[in-house]
Amino acid sequence: MSRIADELIEQIRDAADLVGIIGEAVQLKRAGSDYRGACPFHGGTHRNFAVIPKKGMYYCYVCHEAGDVFTYLMKKQGMDYPTAVREVARKVGIVVPEQGTREGPDPREPLFTASAVAQEWFATRLREDPEAGVARSYLADRDIPPEVAGEQGLGFAPPGRAFVDAMKQLGIEERVLVEAGLMVKRDDGTASPRFRGRLLFPIRDLRGRVVGFGGRILGQGEPKYLNSPETPIFHKGTMLYNLHEAKQAIRREEEVILVEGYFDVLRLVLSGTDNVVAPMGTALTPDQAALLHRFAKAALLLYDSDSAGLRATFRAADECLRHGMRVKVATMPEGEDPDTLVRRGGAAALAPILKDAVDVLDRKIQLLERKGWFEGLEHRRDALDRLLPTARAASDPIARDLYLARISERTGVSRAVLEREEASRPPAPAGRPADPSPRTGPPALPGRSRHPGARLEQQLLKTILSGGSWLERARGEIPPETFEVPSHREIFEAVRALAPSAPPAAALERLSPQAQDAFQRVLQRANEERTAGVSFDEEYAGALQGLRARAVSRTLAPVSSVDERQHQLNELPPDQRKRFIIRKAAAKEARRSPSGPSGSDPTQHS
Ligand code: GTP
Ligand code: MN
Repeated sequence: MSRIADELIEQIRDAADLVGIIGEAVQLKRAGSDYRGACPFHGGTHRNFAVIPKKGMYYCYVCHEAGDVFTYLMKKQGMDYPTAVREVARKVGIVVPEQGTREGPDPREPLFTASAVAQEWFATRLREDPEAGVARSYLADRDIPPEVAGEQGLGFAPPGRAFVDAMKQLGIEERVLVEAGLMVKRDDGTASPRFRGRLLFPIRDLRGRVVGFGGRILGQGEPKYLNSPETPIFHKGTMLYNLHEAKQAIRREEEVILVEGYFDVLRLVLSGTDNVVAPMGTALTPDQAALLHRFAKAALLLYDSDSAGLRATFRAADECLRHGMRVKVATMPEGEDPDTLVRRGGAAALAPILKDAVDVLDRKIQLLERKGWFEGLEHRRDALDRLLPTARAASDPIARDLYLARISERTGVSRAVLEREEASRPPAPAGRPADPSPRTGPPALPGRSRHPGARLEQQLLKTILSGGSWLERARGEIPPETFEVPSHREIFEAVRALAPSAPPAAALERLSPQAQDAFQRVLQRANEERTAGVSFDEEYAGALQGLRARAVSRTLAPVSSVDERQHQLNELPPDQRKRFIIRKAAAKEARRSPSGPSGSDPTQHS
């Protein structure tokens, strides 16, 4: 029988509908967050049998039968373990590889061993080594008691080559240490320890095995943190620091608290908050969000409140929303991180901040309100562009609907118009269902940052160029000034001037090269959407209504200076625009996300 990877088994167990499966044979009644019924094992008649979905367990208070979804199927239906696992996998739609790709022992076993041995050794150094005095006093200065450092498995990597000798004595091969990322091979063939003179945080996988380390420099220096490199057992984008320790608490609290750094995690755990994890210095990845979603449906983001922290917050929020989670944002006082705050004020300082956390959309609204973006009609158009990505990111249809309602309420733009605007967006590229990022989208049409409503113009043009009656209607009711994007205006004027029976494509040869390109792109989209069954009557009416609204708002709202500055910034070529971004924020952001900063507005993050 082929071996099923433990990670996969765990994933299947987490995904199983325990109540549903047991409920097929046992009548269950809800009791708080648990379910009760008559025990099928000892054939009881009272409700002594409990199903506890949060723990993935059942338990009978009379006969003491207990287990998880797999033991249930084994005991009740006589399946063997692998069959039970496959049966549940089938129900939840997880694919289990058929034949053993991994017969025999896991080839990564030596790497796990090396990491475990190294962790032990580093921890012993921190406790006992005279050389580690600097690390012990560093921790003392940061108010981390030695017992806590011990519980968390913190270690000290000495500056010299003692690690090399120790590992040799313990029988760990150098080749394995290099593969585990603990030693670095130099060009001259010699190898040296990767971590030297650093305080080490062990990073564990979901089964609690040490797979890597994060190492903080003691005092000043660069880089402040050094992580293990990617290895066969360490993929920093797919794991989260402290998840192994936190997962029960996350299930229990039905919420995960996300912080930015190792010390933030440590401090919160120290103050009695256990459901806390951190990514390892990068922006939250889709894999990490998917991982979190397995344990809780809600996330609370507790990042720094500076602008880089806010950008990281909104990016992480979108990632969580895409994975169907609810997201709240807590706001730290200026200049604090969770570590400094709790260190100074204890758990009592944190409690009100967690309590005051608001839904991510409301947090964006707060920030925009503070900047006065709901005051002029013209601002509101921009406010919409900051808010709609949040609605778009929400993969849960109910959350999305509530978000659109809230956005409509706050901006005064009707639901119908918002929905049409959303519907007219180019389809998301495959694989990233709701990714709103223009960088990953199809080739850019003229961006709406330069011409608010460019998308609506394009939507209208699409119907006009697709032939049929729309060109006729447009001739009668649309003045050319409706189109503000120059190539759109040019196209419309050219097709309008055609003989009534001529196909729109006859205008193509009269156009400038730029307008020709735009024409082709719009036409291609029209064809695709027609094939997909989009109603062009609705597209035409929606776009026209939206563009008329734009014209009205223009005449009502003078462009304010803030908006004008933003506008001017948007008009700059990207390289010049970058120079406007504060260096410090940029450096910080670059660490959090490989793609770097995307703008100076913290709500503008994707
Ligand atoms: P302390 O100064 O130790 O309290 O760190 P911090 O957690 O307050 O620092 P910061 O907000 O700068 O960093 C948050 C997280 O980003 C850290 O815990 C690291 O995971 C990561 N990080 C910070 N600096 C670096 C760095 O220079 N390199 C790498 N790879 N990651 C870093
Ligand atoms: Mn800190």
